[in-house]
Amino acid sequence: MQSDEIRSRFLKFFEKRGHKVIPSSSLVPGDPTVLFTTAGMQQFKPYYTAPDNAIRDFGTKNTTSSQKCVRTVDIDEVGDSTHLTFFEMLGNFSFGGYGRKEAITYAHEFITKELGLEISYVTFYKGEGVVPRDEASRDIWAGLGVKEIREDGPDVFWGPTGDSGPCGPTTEIYCKNAAGQDVEIWNIVFNEYFCEGSREKLDKGEAKLKKLDVLGIDTGMGLERLLATVQKKKNVYETDVFDNEATKEERIVADHIKTSLFMITDGVLPANTGRGYILRRLIRRAVRFSKQPLAKQIEKVKKVYKNVYVLDDKGEISKEENKFRQTLEHGLKEMEKGTDPFVLFTTYGFPIELTLELAKEKGKKIDLEDFNKKMVEHQKLSQTSSAGMFKGGLANHNEKTVRLHTAHHLLLAGLQAIVDKNIKQRGSNITEERLRIDFLCDHKLTDEEKKRTEDWVNDKIKSGLNVVRKEMPLMEAQMLGAEMEFGAKYPETVSVYFIEDKDSNPISKEFCGGPHISNTKELGQFKIQKEEAVAQGIRRIKAVLL
Ligand code: ALA
Repeated sequence: MQSDEIRSRFLKFFEKRGHKVIPSSSLVPGDPTVLFTTAGMQQFKPYYTAPDNAIRDFGTKNTTSSQKCVRTVDIDEVGDSTHLTFFEMLGNFSFGGYGRKEAITYAHEFITKELGLEISYVTFYKGEGVVPRDEASRDIWAGLGVKEIREDGPDVFWGPTGDSGPCGPTTEIYCKNAAGQDVEIWNIVFNEYFCEGSREKLDKGEAKLKKLDVLGIDTGMGLERLLATVQKKKNVYETDVFDNEATKEERIVADHIKTSLFMITDGVLPANTGRGYILRRLIRRAVRFSKQPLAKQIEKVKKVYKNVYVLDDKGEISKEENKFRQTLEHGLKEMEKGTDPFVLFTTYGFPIELTLELAKEKGKKIDLEDFNKKMVEHQKLSQTSSAGMFKGGLANHNEKTVRLHTAHHLLLAGLQAIVDKNIKQRGSNITEERLRIDFLCDHKLTDEEKKRTEDWVNDKIKSGLNVVRKEMPLMEAQMLGAEMEFGAKYPETVSVYFIEDKDSNPISKEFCGGPHISNTKELGQFKIQKEEAVAQGIRRIKAVLL
């Protein structure tokens, strides 16, 4: 049985039993407190507290889906026989439509009859605090003739995702894989509670559980793991969603490129913060482990999913690959020489996680504290002169400096639009006469680049664009990809300045305390006076408003 068949059999099985088949939601969740979609229930989260809306939206209280998921917590384990950063989760969900008995019976029937697998054992929750021992589940399993039923602890209590949400006891199904080990195949969650806080808070005893009005069902079965079991393979890379990758390196490349392709298809782009940073790490890690260009791997992944998902990276993976391959070899040599991780980051684009990983392989130690200190120092240095002017309203900004401040934001956006979208600010300073920006860039700007950047900024000034300040949760601002000071600590609520085009699309977004002028037409003529190097990989521009 191939992956396409298992996926559709699962969905049909539940469709026949009164479930509406819902397409996978994006890997970028609607919930701003979650980085990526990690479970099938995420798109259904609101229905557990408002079940009637399920009838309104789906015509039924029961749904089923095969959900694209990304989990990167175990990225270091990828390459063994089970760990993946991308997987699909088959699930059935109910918002008051049915209870334990049906959920367990369906799962039992699908596993033993539809797939013909044997269940090794199942688990049920032992109970803790306000949550009682789940004897009802135990009895249902026993009634179905399952012989081994194990009581289990905190692992069989699931949720919530994000900063609050439904959660509850679970019952898990274990089957034997081809290597004879028992692996967890299916997790059935009984959402009986609403947790007013994150899982972390709940574990620390800092979050309260409130009983939900109706019992919700949320189940999750990892397709890749299920495939390995059904297809009697010793590892997921031997199933038909992979290509028999045998070495750890090949597996890492296969996994990371798959995840990157799915992420980009859902709108994520390589960046130095948030989701984009995770994507960048995945691609750069794949580049490191692949001697071949990644193009072939991209095509392989597209082919595997051609009947289910249209995947398109719009050339982004190769772009990122080319950029990193140019510096990778050089950076590796520098690393051999014992070059500072801080320089490896700023000059060779080595994410610190990569440096740590390389160092571990070579049995070398990296002074992470020193790295972080340098990052913060660097930040402070860049901020010192502007701090007085822009942080916390201090006293000496005037009309001239405020105009230059807005021009500074436009210039950074212009450099990203014209020279390289990955340019990051590394310092700023403004006097009444001029602005100064330091930024990461691997080359001296050409006369043409300078001219085009200048024209870009002047065009935005002439267009009379609004400058808008918004306060928002830090996480949301990060999600939006607002420019931030590297290494700086931000409060939970931040101020972000947007410069918006006529359709209210931001052409610039930066974490910033202000102040700014309210419309770019107040700026006058913008001119770049000087462009020079200040350190390896860091350029400086001085510019004025005439
Ligand atoms: N939401 C549950 C999980 O992710 C089913 O395991």
